[in-house]
Amino acid sequence: MNSFTFYNPTQLVFGKDSIEKLPQMIAQFTEGKKILMTYGGGSMKKSGLHDRIMNLLTDFEVTEFGGIEPNPRLETVKRAVQVVKENDIDFILAVGGGSVIDGTKLISAASTSDHDPWDIVTRKAIPESAVPFGTILTISATGSEMNAGSVITNWETNEKLGWGSPLVFPKFSLLNPEILYTLPENQTVNGIVDSMSHLLEQYFNEAENSAIGDAMIAGVMKQIMAAGKVALKEPQNYEARETLMLGATVALNGFMRMGYNGDWATHNLEHAVSAVHDIAHGAGLAILFPAWMKYVSEKQPARFAQFAEDVFDADSSLSEEEKIQTGIKGIEDYWTSIGAPSRLSDFNISEEDFETFAEKTLFNGPFGNFCKLDREDVLAIYQLAQ
Ligand code: NZQ
Ligand code: ZN
Repeated sequence: MNSFTFYNPTQLVFGKDSIEKLPQMIAQFTEGKKILMTYGGGSMKKSGLHDRIMNLLTDFEVTEFGGIEPNPRLETVKRAVQVVKENDIDFILAVGGGSVIDGTKLISAASTSDHDPWDIVTRKAIPESAVPFGTILTISATGSEMNAGSVITNWETNEKLGWGSPLVFPKFSLLNPEILYTLPENQTVNGIVDSMSHLLEQYFNEAENSAIGDAMIAGVMKQIMAAGKVALKEPQNYEARETLMLGATVALNGFMRMGYNGDWATHNLEHAVSAVHDIAHGAGLAILFPAWMKYVSEKQPARFAQFAEDVFDADSSLSEEEKIQTGIKGIEDYWTSIGAPSRLSDFNISEEDFETFAEKTLFNGPFGNFCKLDREDVLAIYQLAQ
């Protein structure tokens, strides 16, 4: 393994009574009363969560900022930064999924700075402070509720870029699995695919030895797969939602990457697609990960054979090639069985775009920590996903 320091200051408050702890959680981080509540397209109003939160915040002065879109956009963040500055906000409460939380991370960092928010995303400006914020998570998928990463789309330039700073770990995240009951089926599917993809990115890592990580990743992956089936059949199954919610959080809060970074090429491949076509992140990953696995398994077969043993209990008597196929087909069949898309053509995305995607993925040169991909590799993977 590489040497590492693990740091994660987010207070994770989990369970049926978690949301009711909101006032006391905020009070830990500010004596001020001015709260900005950020949210998305309104699912939290429909579900009754909005009223529930407002009833808990009667001692605070709440300004609302709704309309943060899935794949959150720079222009929306800029409008919110204005609101924070004009209203002298003390604390931000993000209510939503990865998109609202990622948008809020940039709002939080950009609101204490004179820089354009995009300069923070492109690392031209390094944030030196941030408005404190907490989250109420409404969809389990990205792990953004307990990490310091954020992904923002600049729709003017068709760029979707990740950035991060230790300053934007949420101060706390409140997770009540019951909140997931109202998720549309396709969002539950996207969340399952995204959290499994985070585990895959980290399983295929650059370390010589990642025995502890391998065991944790395989264990969490199996539990997410089993719970995913149950939650899709019975959306109000508490235990299944509980497993999915905690599973997605630990999949990307640093626990699974102690001693290595993981590959992360497929996330780069996906962000290039959703920067141009605005498809859901989970949907893009469901299409691209099997294609990446097929392509890279030819270059690095041993790790893929081990993957099949760890996650799909492939019999040790199988040949290396049989094991590899067991692992890739295991992922592909599972995602198909839960209704995830499998081809770029499902979204009318054609070969014409592949050069554009490739250019976007390669803006920093060849990428992927487990297997470096160049232009030729990237085009071949998009072709396999076609
Ligand atoms: O906007 P509303 O009306 O709330 O509806 C949302 C949205 O349409 C809906 N939804 C959320 N909770 C709901 C609900 N509908 C009914 N009931 C509920 N309880 O779900 C839709 C999708 O929400 P979104 O926040 O976009 O989903 P997700 O959590 O998958 O976030 C995706 C974004 O996160 C980025 C992705 O690239 C994408 O932009 N990622 C962030 C990461 C991070 N910060 O660590 C890592 C990931 O790999 C990823 O790149
Ligand atoms: Zn992801």
